[in-house]
Amino acid sequence: MIRLDKYLSEATSYSRKDVRVLVKRKSITVNGAIAGTADMKVDEKNDSVSVNNTPVIYRKFIYLMLNKPQGYLSATEDDRDPVVTDLVPEELKHFSPFPVGRLDKDTEGLLLLTNDGQFDHELMSPRKNLYKRYYAELDAPAEEQDMEIFASGMEFKEFTAKPARLEIDPDDPRKVHVEIAEGKYHQVKRMCERVGKNVVFLKRVAVGGLKLDESLKCGEVRELTAEELAIFGW
Ligand code: URA
Repeated sequence: MIRLDKYLSEATSYSRKDVRVLVKRKSITVNGAIAGTADMKVDEKNDSVSVNNTPVIYRKFIYLMLNKPQGYLSATEDDRDPVVTDLVPEELKHFSPFPVGRLDKDTEGLLLLTNDGQFDHELMSPRKNLYKRYYAELDAPAEEQDMEIFASGMEFKEFTAKPARLEIDPDDPRKVHVEIAEGKYHQVKRMCERVGKNVVFLKRVAVGGLKLDESLKCGEVRELTAEELAIFGW
């Protein structure tokens, strides 16, 4: 059981102060009866609360999929550049979501956002061994032998990469898919450079078993479905 004002300030963009005003106006009902005070206790699981006759769905956490456009930083604030949280719809901003991991400013594609620290921790944990799949365009054709070098576990100054997968488009070997298990700084770009090619376009298309929803336009955000969350055991 939690206080009505806490319940509504967590689940909606109303502040606790707003809730007091709404109670005075008799705009809130709990199980159909007008709420008398803002500090009355409600059961988050079983009570139904409505504001202005609109039912409220109680939840504390949100899990979002963003198709990140180029030009946005994977951060919640920055003095100079736009940040990915600018793209969160107004009605979800009060949840204060943050990005799970990072994509470079010039990388597009699948980025998860949440306000659930445990979910973030779980997905970022190296023990989770979550593969990230990228589509990349290179400035020179990828070669057969590059696949072996990717699979062999490249060494970098701060880490040794787990075996990575390079798939070359047979029709255009400048187009590749790369799967990596980590998510180190500029990792895909550095791995491609190691075999003598520069990445000219990079897009993340999947994280573990979760694929980017291709119907989501660049810059669009939607909530993950229960099935998608279940992919991560959530
Ligand atoms: N690897 C990169 O080089 N950049 C990204 O944004 C993600 C992976």
